[in-house]
Amino acid sequence: MLTVRDLASLRERLAAWRSEGARIALVPTMGALHAGHIALVDAARRPGTRVVASIFVNPRQFAPNEDLARYPRREAADARLLTEGGCDLLWMPDVETMYPAGFATTIAVGGVSEGLDGAARPGHFDGVATVVTKLLNQVRPDCAYFGEKDFQQLAVIRRLVTDLDMEVEIVGVPTQRDDDGLALSSRNIYLDEAERAGAVALPRALGIAARAIARGEEPAAVLGDARAALEGAGFEVDYVALVDAETLIPGPAADRPRRLLAAARLGATRLIDNVAVG
Ligand code: PAJ
Repeated sequence: MLTVRDLASLRERLAAWRSEGARIALVPTMGALHAGHIALVDAARRPGTRVVASIFVNPRQFAPNEDLARYPRREAADARLLTEGGCDLLWMPDVETMYPAGFATTIAVGGVSEGLDGAARPGHFDGVATVVTKLLNQVRPDCAYFGEKDFQQLAVIRRLVTDLDMEVEIVGVPTQRDDDGLALSSRNIYLDEAERAGAVALPRALGIAARAIARGEEPAAVLGDARAALEGAGFEVDYVALVDAETLIPGPAADRPRRLLAAARLGATRLIDNVAVG
């Protein structure tokens, strides 16, 4: 696997692959890679496709009170995992390459980015949309892979690509979980032993609630029970919401594809998760 840190070298390598007829797939990440990220690389691997992963801890998607400074950085281990996973190129720009002096553009996606995490983390999805637009312009991939783990992020990126007529196929990959059901996340390393044991309450509460709603139980009551279960397990709940899986508007009709999303804090660590209903 090649590691590239400047835009000219990136473009040169990609042009060479394209001239050989290869398709380019992009897997954007912030590093501290785990099996969830590698599942994206795996989904991207196809005959005739070159897989590019990016690692960039994007300052513009972290609020001042968030964990930018302590976000885990593990370049050597990440490069090893990507190589083993069959990635062809690691794109690893530094902050000055991504946001040179004078940088003044923000991409703001309305609608899908406004509720849920968009409400809890003002500006977060502007930062995500801006960096993903840059990554898509830098790499110009045929397809780009994102995890359903960050369900609202995936919806924001689908909207962005549609609205800005970007010629890239966005592929969503199912959430990879630990044996007990906790969604894999770079932030799980912040959990101490007791918190890690208690964190399983999040996927459990979502699973129970999704099954109850699919059976036809009253969503408001089910969401209340899920919230209570999380609080009982020591979580401070940001939201538990039943939304339309495409628009992310709350209170969807039962004949629409529906998704149950939650964000909750355990100690200092904020966890998110989501499941399909039915
Ligand atoms: P990061 O949190 O590193 O995640 C990179 C990609 O991996 C995202 O598409 C995310 O949804 C996916 N992912 C994370 N955990 C997963 C899991 N357990 N199962 C499946 N996929 C998983 O998301 C970001 O970085 C950033 O916001 C980024 C899109 C790179 C823009 O900066």
